[in-house]
Amino acid sequence: MMHPPGTLLASASGKGGVGTTWFAITRAHALAARGRRILLVDADFGLANIDIQLGLMPEHDLATVLAGSIALADAVMRHEVGFDIIPGRSGAQSLATLPVGVLEAVLASLRTLASGYDLVLLDLGSGLAPALRHLAARVDALLLVITEEPTSLTDGYAVLKLHAQDCSRPIPLHVVVNQATSPASGQRIFATIAQACRRYLATAPDLLGIIRRDDRVRDAIRRQTPLLRRHPATIAAQDIEAIAATILT
Ligand SMILES: Nc1ncnc2c1ncn2[C@@H]1O[C@H](COP(=O)(O)OP(=O)(O)O)[C@@H](O)[C@H]1O
Ligand SMILES: [Mg+2]
Repeated sequence: MMHPPGTLLASASGKGGVGTTWFAITRAHALAARGRRILLVDADFGLANIDIQLGLMPEHDLATVLAGSIALADAVMRHEVGFDIIPGRSGAQSLATLPVGVLEAVLASLRTLASGYDLVLLDLGSGLAPALRHLAARVDALLLVITEEPTSLTDGYAVLKLHAQDCSRPIPLHVVVNQATSPASGQRIFATIAQACRRYLATAPDLLGIIRRDDRVRDAIRRQTPLLRRHPATIAAQDIEAIAATILT
């Protein structure tokens, strides 16, 4: 699934709390550890929290950029484990309704910035507010994070349905099942959503991977330390490493 350099890959979920942010961070870490140049953008305008999960105190963030005070490139900060971050700002709700012109300008800057990276990961959060729907339709690929909970599945399907309406040209769709009780049950959940997509949306998402439920994830987040550093051999870390390998093959 090797992406060309500079690819913009957005991730989103229907329901919140499924692990979209944690997965974006940990995937960025795993890919950086494999020598890839990764930029992680916190574009979850309502509930941005990449900085919180990592215990960072950013000087600038996406909200400052959107307010016109600084350039996008100046909001980039480096995480010591080897990837770059553009932090978001939690509670900046008004950003969710930004005019299309502003969004397009940000996208253009992001494209320019992306040329210096192998992969740009955008965390769009849950529910796809209007501005985020616009972004999701303009990136190169969309990744949906779901869990085994029925509400995560129905809300996730709703996101893909809106996305199908927004896209003038189809982009690759990927699904990750997080917090799975087992690989087999993760597979079943993926099969359910993939079937609904084929039948009603004429789209065919692929399964990027399954991440098992693992209490060490909670522990790492509570300690604001990347999982791959704190618990590099735990089950969820193994599953993320497998996904990183898939992304790079
Ligand atoms: N694989 C996992 N196993 C166990 N708990 C997880 C896993 N992934 C995420 N979590 C839990 O889910 C919570 C929400 O994660 P977060 O990334 O903030 O979700 P979202 O961005 O979708 O709202 C985390 O605090 C963590 O405790
Ligand atoms: Mg989040």
